[in-house]
Amino acid sequence: MKNHFLQPSCIELDRSALRHNLQFLRKKARNGVRISSVIKGNAYGHGISSFMPMAEAAGMDHFSVFSANEADAVIRFGQNPETIVMIMGMIRDIEMEWAIENGVEFYLFEHQRLEAAFQTARKMRKQAKIHLQIETGMNRTGFDEPEWKAVFEYVKKGSTHLSLRGICTHFAGAESIANFYRIQRQNEQLQKAVKLATKIFGVRPLVHASSSAAFLTHSDKHYDMVRIGIAQYGFWPSMETYMHHLKTEKLKEAEDPLKRVLTWKSEVMSLKKVESGDFIGYGNVYLAGKDMTIATVPIGYTHGFGRNLTNTGYVLVNGVRAGVVGLVNMNMITINVSDIPDIKKGDEVVMIGRQGEDEITVASFGEMTNNLNYEVLTRLPSTIPRTVVG
Ligand SMILES: Cc1ncc(COP(=O)(O)O)c(C=O)c1O
Repeated sequence: MKNHFLQPSCIELDRSALRHNLQFLRKKARNGVRISSVIKGNAYGHGISSFMPMAEAAGMDHFSVFSANEADAVIRFGQNPETIVMIMGMIRDIEMEWAIENGVEFYLFEHQRLEAAFQTARKMRKQAKIHLQIETGMNRTGFDEPEWKAVFEYVKKGSTHLSLRGICTHFAGAESIANFYRIQRQNEQLQKAVKLATKIFGVRPLVHASSSAAFLTHSDKHYDMVRIGIAQYGFWPSMETYMHHLKTEKLKEAEDPLKRVLTWKSEVMSLKKVESGDFIGYGNVYLAGKDMTIATVPIGYTHGFGRNLTNTGYVLVNGVRAGVVGLVNMNMITINVSDIPDIKKGDEVVMIGRQGEDEITVASFGEMTNNLNYEVLTRLPSTIPRTVVG
């Protein structure tokens, strides 16, 4: 007989939620603006192999990743030969031949790598599809202003082997109004670079600069393409960006137009009675103040349920919130189910997502632990099986 093992928890991806989010984002985008789906960090924990075909089926044909190995995954799991893959971060000189061969576009932000791209493409008698990243004030990666002229002229001269696909930057911290003027200044720098590039190339290159937060709050800075990560998965980059939406749409009630794509669930592994005065789990982290029923759930910090949720996190069982009692273990948590009388072994437990009338959003998960949505999502291990539903 063939062994059949199931993982202790699973992740479901809701196809209709993604379609709904993309529809909302397309409506928000200025006319003709392309949306690139950012799927770095294993598609923000959703899983590239499951998320990408679902996004392609929903009409997405441009994907942004961080590194060459992620671009390789996009090529392997994608189904549309027209799909464009763009590396926004790490590509080594030795990975360039592969990228050029496969038509993968990539950012360049330093002269040495620009030169390497040109030399590799020339050796291959092909064209490297490049995006020139401009330093506008984030001070992470990007060509500094004094380099712009020489870089643009180099690319123009080498155009037989360098195909300029875009000029780009990254607005730093648009999720907070406190950074408003910083972004204005970044935008002025970007415009300066675009003006110079237009003069040198004779045409205005494609420009992109905004991620979800800038896209949602600075509609005058969409340019030709926006790179959307967190919002497509159904999350606001911050509470401020959500408030901005409610205000600009003049909505009185909190109607969230974004729907969470991901649900993470497990099941009750066992149940136990605990007497008042007993400690639960390791050490003396939780002392039962009354007789209790506790349930164990087979997920722990190895699965992305952080130790910092000890005594503070909660999950949903039978539509009711049950708090974590005691330390989060490597593979298990203990939860207080004293107020859920009909609970039984095998009942569904939701760590992130909806059950009955209640929902645990990653945001509330994030608030409990002071982690950002981004971090909680991308920490979900790739070994948890993902299934597409809806
Ligand atoms: C360069 C770049 N563009 C776009 C994004 C997408 O950001 P968000 O998930 O906030 O939309 C990121 C993510 O950090 C990024 O680094």
